[in-house]
Amino acid sequence: MKAMVNTEYGSPDVLHLKELAKPSPKEDEILVKVHAASVNAADWHLLRADPFLVRLMVGGLLKPKITILGADIAGRVEAVGENVKEFHPGDEVFGDISACGWGGFAEYVCARENALVLKPANITFEQAAAVPLAGVAALQGLRDYGQIRPGQKVLINGASGGVGTFAVQIARSFGAEVTAVCSTRNVDMAHSLGADHVIDYTREDFTRSGQCYDLILAANGYHPISDYKRALSPDGIYVMAGGSMPQMFQAMLLGPWISRNSEQKMVHFLAKPNKKDLTFIKELLETGKVKPVIDGCYPLSEVAGAFRYMEEEHARGKVVIAVDRDDRTDRTLGLT
Ligand SMILES: NC(=O)c1ccc[n+]([C@@H]2O[C@H](COP(=O)([O-])OP(=O)(O)OC[C@H]3O[C@@H](n4cnc5c(N)ncnc54)[C@H](OP(=O)(O)O)[C@@H]3O)[C@@H](O)[C@H]2O)c1
Repeated sequence: MKAMVNTEYGSPDVLHLKELAKPSPKEDEILVKVHAASVNAADWHLLRADPFLVRLMVGGLLKPKITILGADIAGRVEAVGENVKEFHPGDEVFGDISACGWGGFAEYVCARENALVLKPANITFEQAAAVPLAGVAALQGLRDYGQIRPGQKVLINGASGGVGTFAVQIARSFGAEVTAVCSTRNVDMAHSLGADHVIDYTREDFTRSGQCYDLILAANGYHPISDYKRALSPDGIYVMAGGSMPQMFQAMLLGPWISRNSEQKMVHFLAKPNKKDLTFIKELLETGKVKPVIDGCYPLSEVAGAFRYMEEEHARGKVVIAVDRDDRTDRTLGLT
């Protein structure tokens, strides 16, 4: 099988296409023929070992332990181990396989049953591959850490990216009044995702408008934590999913102190892949309450190009790898 391999840490230039043996599923594993995968910020953090801590936590100190990246996959079950009960050859599945060894940037990968869910019939493999990591992060950020409730004023900063496009739609599905923050070129898209209000961050600083929010999910961009505090209602919750490094450290170091000393809560989190949560999102996909936004598709041989594009941090929704369509690079899919 073909796989996009990284045997050293570095820029996307270290990625190379290699012919490898097709893996065989262990007794509790499923062999999936990957039709599509998607790129997440976690992939390029691992590729570059940036921040350095990545080497200690998952990566390997001197060289990568994970030599085929790719957490999000969608594909067809090719074979199952003898203890697998839920899936059968031919089933269409999708999931986040980062807890079982990664490896989505390849034609085949083995994954455990608890990482996969049946793909909704109403979406393509490419759309399904866009969902797992970013969708579950948006759900856990809003529901578990943000305690979202109907009628609340919810603001999503970084609303036009992978996590943000899911967050806007999921927050709407919970009955919140949603404000999306993005740049000028994404304003119409944010409205089309269901945002009640859209703030163009190139023209207006939402932290200085005098408006307060019950819940703020920071998916991208940078504001000091004091700015977010000012934009929160007296008992509001700020949830830091991502953004710049200073933002992350402020949330980790100052967030707990602010939360202890006021009614406002300021938290950060790392999403955990979770079958129950992916099933929850699957239902939103089936009812059309959530639609994946795909910026563009790259073939497997062009994963490095997908990384370079993603690293600019201006993707509109998700960047997808069309693993079984090596004939094209399609940056024209737009909203799907
Ligand atoms: N905590 C977790 O478990 C978790 C899970 C997934 C991701 N993350 C983190 O969350 C962050 C976002 O992930 P992602 O996949 O959504 O990334 P992404 O798709 O690369 O985000 C790109 C988007 O960010 C927007 N953006 C860039 N600068 C901005 C600014 N100053 N203000 C507002 N929006 C801005 C861009 O909009 P414009 O082009 O309009 O500027 C673009 O649409 C990353 O830091 C990632 O590491 C965390």
